Amino acid sequence: MDVDFDVKHGLEGVAVAISSISYVDGKKGELVYRGFSIEDLIKNSNFEETAYLIWFGSLPNENELDFIVSMLSKKRELPEKIINIMRLFPKNSHPMEVLRSVVSILGMYSGENNSTLEDAINLTAKIPTVIAYWYRIKNNMPIIHPREDLKHSENFLYMMFGEISQYSELFDKTLILHAEQGMNASTFASTVTASTLTDTYSIITTAIGTLKGPLHGGANERVLKMFEEIKSVDNVESYINALIENKNKIMGFGHRIYKTYDPRAKVLKEWIKELFLKENVEYFEIALKVEEYVLKKFENRKIYPNVDFYSGILYNFFNIPKEFFTTIFAMARIIGWTAHSMEYCKNNRIFRPRSIYNGPKNFKYKEYKRS
Ligand code: SDX
Repeated sequence: MDVDFDVKHGLEGVAVAISSISYVDGKKGELVYRGFSIEDLIKNSNFEETAYLIWFGSLPNENELDFIVSMLSKKRELPEKIINIMRLFPKNSHPMEVLRSVVSILGMYSGENNSTLEDAINLTAKIPTVIAYWYRIKNNMPIIHPREDLKHSENFLYMMFGEISQYSELFDKTLILHAEQGMNASTFASTVTASTLTDTYSIITTAIGTLKGPLHGGANERVLKMFEEIKSVDNVESYINALIENKNKIMGFGHRIYKTYDPRAKVLKEWIKELFLKENVEYFEIALKVEEYVLKKFENRKIYPNVDFYSGILYNFFNIPKEFFTTIFAMARIIGWTAHSMEYCKNNRIFRPRSIYNGPKNFKYKEYKRS
């Protein structure tokens, strides 16, 4: 066995880049984009402006904001041929599979062959359209074309449900919360892909495939499934006990970096609490009980709710089906993925780590005894 190298399982504690995009304080539970706390941004900014901030590193002036808003609104429509291809997809395809595939196909419509801001804007504008079109195609409803006069979030909910939602501002804030989070698994995967100097569509296809997994962005869908299975507050303790006894992970809990409450989960919980006072917000009482019980069971183990624990309750309130939840995460995180790829490539070096070989070395083909 090679002994020159150490394995850092899951790359825990390893830094792979120097970045000025975001800062995560896992002890204090703080998340900062380009110097601004997420609490400040959700209060004062919007998704388009935050996207500009994350991409360019500073808040836009009026002209710069107009530019990004106009680019994002003009590039929303999909080529007719892609819409026709989507109509041929199996109706039971998972929305993340559809998104991953359509992003890849969109690459065939791009002239460029490397990672550019133009491609980042193009995909940021089109991803909401892919999600909404798939929602309508899957459910045998006519697609609703994007409107250039609407804001990014407003237009997405309009394409999904055919009306201007009174909650589009709240939805917009959830996108800000999900836009960036350092070198998480999907950002790392996309940065590895970017380091080969491939194109943005390949980079984002990698990222979507990575985000889809249940240990990453796919957790939000599973959290809602858990609430559905629990059904009533009275069943919470027995359900959680069974998960723990069977050594199953409790979806929406734990984090590699946050060893305290995830600040995004804190914000989402507050919003839902406010909504709950005036509206029927399904599963909130179950969620509160799950949180209370899991914190009690895992006392002193630093396992807290993460961003995926409360986001689904909100999406469910917006009438978004649970299998679409992770696509909403992707619709926001495209900003972080592209920002990191572009930043890394400015001082690029291809990722090429090692694995330590621990298998045999001296077999001879002709002498080998097959079982
Ligand atoms: C996201 O990194 C990011 O920034 C990601 C993200 C982003 O914005 O991009 O924040 C988004 O992916 C949120 C995470 C969503 N995933 C889940 O909710 C799935 C459930 N959580 C976990 O499986 C887990 O906590 C991870 C994957 C989130 C973190 O994995 P780690 O850092 O490898 O931690 P671990 O699995 O090694 O856990 C350490 C210990 C273990 O116990 P021991 O073996 O030491 O006894 O804590 C236990 C784990 O069993 N543990 C859990 C648990 N999370 C950790 N036990 C039960 N349920 C859990 N959820």
